[in-house]
Amino acid sequence: MTPRLRAMTDAVRALYDRNRQRGFAPWCQRDYDFVCPSMGTYPFQWFWDSCFHAVALGHVDVERSRIEVRSLLANQQPDGFVAHVTFWQRERFEDLLSTYAIAYRTPYLSDCIQPPVLAEAVAAGAQGEGADAYLEEILPRVRRYFDWLDRLRDPDRDGLIATLQPDESGLDHTPKYDGYLGVSGAVLADYTAAWERVAHPYAAVERQHERMFALDRFVDEDVFVNTIYAENQRVLGELLDRIGDRQGAREMCARAAKTSAAIVERCFDEASGLFFDLAGSGERMLKVNTVSSLMPILLRDLPDDHAAALVRHIEDPSEYAAPFPVPSVAMNEPSYLTPTADNKLVWRGPTWINSNWYIARGLRRHGRPDLARRIEDRSAALVEGDGFREYYDPRTGQGFGARDFSWTALALDLLATHEADR
Ligand code: GLC
Repeated sequence: MTPRLRAMTDAVRALYDRNRQRGFAPWCQRDYDFVCPSMGTYPFQWFWDSCFHAVALGHVDVERSRIEVRSLLANQQPDGFVAHVTFWQRERFEDLLSTYAIAYRTPYLSDCIQPPVLAEAVAAGAQGEGADAYLEEILPRVRRYFDWLDRLRDPDRDGLIATLQPDESGLDHTPKYDGYLGVSGAVLADYTAAWERVAHPYAAVERQHERMFALDRFVDEDVFVNTIYAENQRVLGELLDRIGDRQGAREMCARAAKTSAAIVERCFDEASGLFFDLAGSGERMLKVNTVSSLMPILLRDLPDDHAAALVRHIEDPSEYAAPFPVPSVAMNEPSYLTPTADNKLVWRGPTWINSNWYIARGLRRHGRPDLARRIEDRSAALVEGDGFREYYDPRTGQGFGARDFSWTALALDLLATHEADR
């Protein structure tokens, strides 16, 4: 192991000890043990955060990677649904809750989804001793979750799932929703009001899926979410194959291929060479140039000319080729926002390590390890320079948002790939 990788591994181990939450939850009569996103602002268990933590834990403690996923799935509902936040130790943080805009299924579980990174999370824990037993134990639940997504979130049966609220993509204030939500820009209160315009009518229909879709308030076939969906169905197929479930493996691979094909056929805009979300029953393209538009580079079956189009954007210094790539919004988009300490809006410009984790792997899959190596190296440099922050200024590398932010530890996985390919 190189000294650089050793130092990053040690830093992640220490971070994950600081952010570990353990205890017993009387409300569900279960023990919990997970890494929270950040002690200051996010002490609960978030869905996609935990999946990313499981990936990073795969490098420091495989058993804890499995424990993270078990905690995440502990309160899976009988229909297969898994909440985007589990408020395990809610009583200790009541004051914080008033600052969140979240829809609840119960006082302890939110009622929405986040990008389904779950199969990748499981794959990270499926190595070494006990891997097969872990897969046997956990995959039936993972499969139920993906069946739930397929059954409830793809009513038009085109292979693309829809988000029903802007926060379901995890990209809460991304400018790609501005026009659709009717907000004009960088004011947090406008977003909260827009969120309520969506969430209140849902409450009136008891948050039943068919009725929420019928309201057509916010129905987004999101490129970012669906790329992750396609990849995770594919990975789930591979994992099912490992435990001998050939039928399940075939089904998941077919679904992955269908999602992938739908992204390519329906979300690609020839004129700009970018992928865009399809919004509302009219499936209007949300044409804003954000990192979401680049995500399909992750798809193995992305045609070469589409990949080349995305690479041109990634290499363009006026858009994404910043000193610390990859900014969450193209730097020449009018909505691009340079981060500042008092700005609470997320995903409007800064560089995030989780999107880098996807883009770098995509570039390796499409024959550009040189560009991937740069993203891997710069991601690690961000952490080495300014610690585990929530996001960073792509031009200066300065960190912003939450401190000791756990998913930024994906820099370890990026660095491990980088160091293995020297
Ligand atoms: C913010 C982000 C969301 C993340 C959560 C916890 O709400 O928008 O994506 O999961 O914080 O880190």
